Amino acid sequence: MTRTLTSMLIVLFSVLALANGSYLYPQFYDRSCPQAKDIVRSVVAKAVAKEARMAASLLRLHFHDCFVKGCDASILLDNSGSIISEKGSVPNRNSARGFEVVDQIKAALEKACPQTVSCADILALAARDSTVLTGGPSWEIPLGRRDSLGASFSGSNQNIPAPNNTFQTILTKFKLKGLDIVDFVALSGSHTIGNARCTSFRQRLYKNTGNGQPDLTLDQSYAAKLRQNCPRSGGDQNLFFLDPVSPTKFDNSYYKNLMAKNGLLSSDEILFTQNQQTMEFVKQYAANQELFFQQFAKSMVKMGNITPLTGKNGQIRKICRKVNS
Ligand code: HEM
Ligand SMILES: *[C@@H]1O[C@H](CO)[C@@H](O)[C@H](O)[C@H]1NC(C)=O
Repeated sequence: MTRTLTSMLIVLFSVLALANGSYLYPQFYDRSCPQAKDIVRSVVAKAVAKEARMAASLLRLHFHDCFVKGCDASILLDNSGSIISEKGSVPNRNSARGFEVVDQIKAALEKACPQTVSCADILALAARDSTVLTGGPSWEIPLGRRDSLGASFSGSNQNIPAPNNTFQTILTKFKLKGLDIVDFVALSGSHTIGNARCTSFRQRLYKNTGNGQPDLTLDQSYAAKLRQNCPRSGGDQNLFFLDPVSPTKFDNSYYKNLMAKNGLLSSDEILFTQNQQTMEFVKQYAANQELFFQQFAKSMVKMGNITPLTGKNGQIRKICRKVNS
């Protein structure tokens, strides 16, 4: 693209962004840090080559960031002064990971373009790159998020759905963030990669809510296998693949698993068992990977647009773990 065309597009996007009150647009760094996207991708690629699970961990960080105070990198702040880190919340403690990779990305970006690329945008880009690197769809990311000056420990505990929440509770938590039932089904497809700890699904194996019996929407031979390494007590941190069929490949096997009663988390299986509408989507995505990929990309853009800080709000952190002094 010629320079003038690029400039015209940037002006056009800025005007459009101003008009609808949001300032995010894909070309945000085209002039201020043209290497930004390449730098993020190359650090993510190295990290994922070293450990395949890192793709899943980075994808999840963006989700846990966006559901708390919007996509503002609040999840990356460590404890200090008045800040109670979101890293210690129930959904994140002993669970959220990938922070060192984000540090590496930030260090590389600070070298190339000091105080230009936000940590919130790093999370959005790393989530996309992680999806692509594991075989999933790609999408263009509106950029220009800025970083928060604080965190919300309580928001992290309250807004992020728990694996044993009811269907309605999870749907409500999505709706509170401007996401709908389609986003709920499509974004849950992230569980086609990555791991979960025994503590996140133990209840299903032994004493489920209601009748105190094992959850019969979980295939019973699969449940028996899970019990071997997820005992009634102890082994809380033992790890299991969310999608045992292809744990490091971003594909639609997650939805096929749900249809075979092989969804690991209760929050996964209920998409097929508790609601007619989501059941239809599960069937469609299981039958048509391309359809899943298209919706996933759309829903990721939507999630990435949850109340970002823009313009003069927030800051561009120099180190993602702390606010600038
Ligand atoms: C629909 C409600 C959701 C619930 C209840 C939920 C819950 C969970 C739980 C309990 C784990 C395992 C954590 C652990 O045991 O340490 C997990 C892992 C994961 N979640 Fe979700 N999740 C949801 C939606 C999402 C969304 C929207 C995304 C991304 C867009 C996502 C991406 C992931 C990924 C990639 C992992 C694996 C992480 C790793 O291996 O490090 N989840 N989720
Ligand atoms: C969900 O899991 C949490 C943590 O294990 C537990 O304290 C809570 O009682 C469970 N809720 C229901 C409704 O089973």
